[in-house]
Amino acid sequence: MKAIIITQPGAPGVLQTAERPSPAYGRDEVLVKVAAAGVNRPDIFQRKGNYPPPLGAPADIPGLEIAGTIDQIGDNVKRWKIGDKVSALVTGGGYAEYCNVPEGQCLPIPEGLNFVEAASLPETFFTVWSNVFDRGKLQPGESLLVHGGSSGIGVAAIQMAKALGSKVYVTAGSDEKCQICQSLGADAAINYRTRDFVSEIENITHKKGVDVILDMVGGSYTPRNLQALAEDGRLVLINTMEGRDVQIDLSIVMRKRICITGSMLRPRNVEFKAAVAASLEKNIWPLLTSGKIKPVVNAVFPAHQAADAHALMESGDHTGKIVLTFNI
Ligand SMILES: NC(=O)c1ccc[n+]([C@@H]2O[C@H](COP(=O)([O-])OP(=O)(O)OC[C@H]3O[C@@H](n4cnc5c(N)ncnc54)[C@H](OP(=O)(O)O)[C@@H]3O)[C@@H](O)[C@H]2O)c1
Repeated sequence: MKAIIITQPGAPGVLQTAERPSPAYGRDEVLVKVAAAGVNRPDIFQRKGNYPPPLGAPADIPGLEIAGTIDQIGDNVKRWKIGDKVSALVTGGGYAEYCNVPEGQCLPIPEGLNFVEAASLPETFFTVWSNVFDRGKLQPGESLLVHGGSSGIGVAAIQMAKALGSKVYVTAGSDEKCQICQSLGADAAINYRTRDFVSEIENITHKKGVDVILDMVGGSYTPRNLQALAEDGRLVLINTMEGRDVQIDLSIVMRKRICITGSMLRPRNVEFKAAVAASLEKNIWPLLTSGKIKPVVNAVFPAHQAADAHALMESGDHTGKIVLTFNI
């Protein structure tokens, strides 16, 4: 098969097309003929050599989400048959013509969506579900602040939280990105380059603060996040792009009874990921089928142009998702 490999750590140009044997699949796995693969920020970190793949994942083929057609099934696979079309979360190896996936990490493609749209969903939807709703325990009627509102993660978080009955506020780096977030349902969008999100949140919430913050920035945002949270608020970290060493006033944590948590999806086990898949299928997939939640695909590249796709993501000019295609 053809695969896009990381030839050495470095700039987007280190991504090259190579011939590789099609991967083996286990008794509880399916082999998917990949039609499309989503690009995620963790792929960039992996390409640069800063995010080693977990044990069992291919060492040099990136890619955390795919959509395609089941080509082979392992002996123990119960739900799927050859020919089924699926959207799947994978631990790596998504940038390739074939990819093996545990059956529990596959989901049916929501009715009406094509392969490109279906490939844009798993990594961000699994991450948002497990962090905002499971760890952050966001409830209908509560409020959520999403930093990086126009990111792949952000466009999923806005739509999921709105659809499930929350107020959603975001930060983003330009007025245009803010407008896009509002068109997806955000109740307010704060351009963090021109406005202070702490005072904006204070005004919007009449000094109450927000119930949950989904943060990928860390660094200097952390003490400000604690200021922006309401009593009993939850700060959920999914990355620390600005830095992981921070100084905070712990008395705020006690005074407001704040919970600080976070998680990384990729190293979690198959059982955990299958449980998230089941929650998404029950709670979110019907909303994708009805059109209440929509995939937001900003750009599509043939897989051999993966370097261009990474360069676009690193430019920060995209909103929503970038997807690679394999012969569709
Ligand atoms: N923990 C997990 O399991 C998990 C899983 C998936 C993704 N993630 C993390 O979630 C984040 C979003 O991923 P994605 O795939 O949605 O990426 P993406 O579309 O490239 O979004 C990255 C966003 O980060 C914002 N940003 C803020 N500070 C930044 C900085 N210092 N450098 C670069 N960007 C900055 C940018 O928004 P502006 O242009 O508005 O600044 C951009 O929208 C990434 O940090 C990723 O590592 C975590």
